[in-house]
Amino acid sequence: MPKLIGVKKIDIAVLISGNGTNLKNLINHSFKKNSKFKINLIISNKSKAKGLNYAKKFKIHKKIIDYLSAKNAEKDILSELKRKQIYFICLAGFMKILSSNFIKKFKGKIINIHPSLLPKYKGLNTHQRAISNNEKYSGCTVHYVSSKLDSGKIILQKKVRIFKNDTSEKLAKKVLKQEHILYPKALEKVLSSL
Ligand code: GRF
Repeated sequence: MPKLIGVKKIDIAVLISGNGTNLKNLINHSFKKNSKFKINLIISNKSKAKGLNYAKKFKIHKKIIDYLSAKNAEKDILSELKRKQIYFICLAGFMKILSSNFIKKFKGKIINIHPSLLPKYKGLNTHQRAISNNEKYSGCTVHYVSSKLDSGKIILQKKVRIFKNDTSEKLAKKVLKQEHILYPKALEKVLSSL
C-alpha cells in the first residue's frame, strides 16, 4: 500500500451502484484548495448506474465490476485499487456487502454513508421504517465499514426532523441534502487523523 508521507492529496476510490449524487458532491469537494483527497477511481457493480456519468464528466477512471461471483468481484476490485494506488475507499450507495477478508485489507480505510441515525435502522428502507415508527427525527450517519452491516464506528451524524406530512420520498430528499454536507466533512475529518 502506498505511504502517506509526502503525499499532497490522498487517492480515493468511490464505490457506487446508483445515482451517485454523493459521489458528485465528493468530487466537487475534492477540487477545493484545502481538501485532502483526490478521487482517482469510480467503481460500480451496475453498468447502468447513473453515477458513472461523472467518470466521463470529471475524467476519472471508472471500472464496472461483474458481481456474478462475489469472490471474483472482490478480487477484481482489489486489483483495480492496487493498479490505481488507492489508499482509502468511500462507499456511496454501494449496494453490495464487502467480505471481512476484503475489509481487513483496508482496515480503518473504508467508510460509508447510511441514511439513518445509526444504530437505528440498519439496512434498507430506512425512511419508511422511521416514519412508520413515528420517529420525530431521522438523519444520516458516516461510519467506518466493519464486517457487520452498518455497525462500524460512527464518525459523524446529522439529524433531520420528520414532519407529520413527510412521505418516505420527501424525507429521503431532505436527508440526502444533509448527506451532501456530512460526507465530505466526515471524510476530511478521518483523513486528517491518518
Ligand atoms: C444515499 O441515501 C446513501 O445514504 C445510501 O444510498 C443513497 C445513495 O445516493 N447509502 P446517491 O447514489 O449518492 O445519490
